[in-house]
Amino acid sequence: MRADLIVGIQWGDEGKGKVVDLLAQEYEIVCRYQGGHNAGHTIVVDGRTIALHLIPSGILNPQALNIIGNGVVLSPQALIQEMEQFDDLRGRLLISDKAHLIFSYHEEIDRAKERLRGKNAIGTTGRGIGPAYADKVSRQGHRVGELRDVARLHEKILDYFATNEAYFKALGVEPPKPQALRAELERYQEALAPFIADVTGYLWEALREGKRPILLEGAQGTMLDIDHGTYPYVTSSNTIAAGACTGLGLAPRDIGRTIGIAKAYCTRVGNGPFPTEELGPEGERLRQQGHEFGTTTGRPRRCGWFDAVAARYACRLNGCDEVALMKLDVLDGFERVRICVAYRYRGEEIDYLPSDLEEVEPVYIELEGWDRVRGIRDYQALPPQARAYIDRIEALIQTPITIISTSPDRRDTILRKEGP
Ligand code: IMP
Repeated sequence: MRADLIVGIQWGDEGKGKVVDLLAQEYEIVCRYQGGHNAGHTIVVDGRTIALHLIPSGILNPQALNIIGNGVVLSPQALIQEMEQFDDLRGRLLISDKAHLIFSYHEEIDRAKERLRGKNAIGTTGRGIGPAYADKVSRQGHRVGELRDVARLHEKILDYFATNEAYFKALGVEPPKPQALRAELERYQEALAPFIADVTGYLWEALREGKRPILLEGAQGTMLDIDHGTYPYVTSSNTIAAGACTGLGLAPRDIGRTIGIAKAYCTRVGNGPFPTEELGPEGERLRQQGHEFGTTTGRPRRCGWFDAVAARYACRLNGCDEVALMKLDVLDGFERVRICVAYRYRGEEIDYLPSDLEEVEPVYIELEGWDRVRGIRDYQALPPQARAYIDRIEALIQTPITIISTSPDRRDTILRKEGP
């Protein structure tokens, strides 16, 4: 058996939550493999709003086991707060002992560095993600498994502050008070120890037995990948499908069906290149119609047209077998819609992504818009202009579009299982 995977193919916020929620009913194990509480989506279940940042979306399926992999950076404080939305999660949540911990000083470093960057700020979520991954890579991070021995972890964190004293002073970040730190660590141990496990071994066993279907849930999106995104305006993890291997301890051959998630237009939060951004009234209209404000930070998202060059690149990077096209209804009522089919770059027209995306200008094709697709659940019932739009995108990204979403409601979804 293999594990299926869901990955964002734009700049995050593609609507992965709805697809995972839709599919989570079919899967018995749902795993997060990278990122931290910078991610987030809100799901409304039976009139109750649930905010998820770290816990995989499988938590909404009472049959599913949810796994937080070693590739995640985990803020115990954020996780505990999130867990309080649910009854006892024992038996429904496992956390890798190798996941790295985010402490409040990581958040302080994140914010201090953003301030120092001034106009070159990345526009991070301020959740300490970059500093926690930096500590991991520079081999001075602390892992979830260390919560099992609080006395030892306490000592290690104090040592870490002593070693980095000059650095923290320069950034204006105060070291934690030893007594308060000890109490904090004890609180984390008490709340999280029952969930700490060797999740890689657990997943290997589940794959070997082949009885419980597994879904791997990517956070953020391909264009925010640390290696293949719009560096340095990216997050600090491998958001692409390959990140699921390192972030859970799986082999490439363990990955099965890969579903890329895209919105029918594009958005981006934070700074950095965004070739199809619309700064005028059309961008504002997308923002209003799409309610494009961040779930984690509330920031207004930058909005623009569908970028087929970036999406094709992302489909190839992730090996997408299929794509889900979300929020098609947000384009309702636009007289014409645009798709970016190439870039103008240093006097030439190109159809690939150069490493300095800042320098490109989009080349568009324009298609006729449509009145309304909202709530339509059957492909044939879509207006012909909307079908032409989908068909054109499908041809450009060279990947079948098998799921089309026409409203936030789980039921307003078109499934084209057989593909084009
Ligand atoms: P960080 O992940 O907080 O370090 O932020 C780095 C960049 O990734 C910023 O541009 C953020 O806005 C962006 N980012 C991080 N998480 C998300 C997400 O879940 N959705 C969209 N953008 C995100």
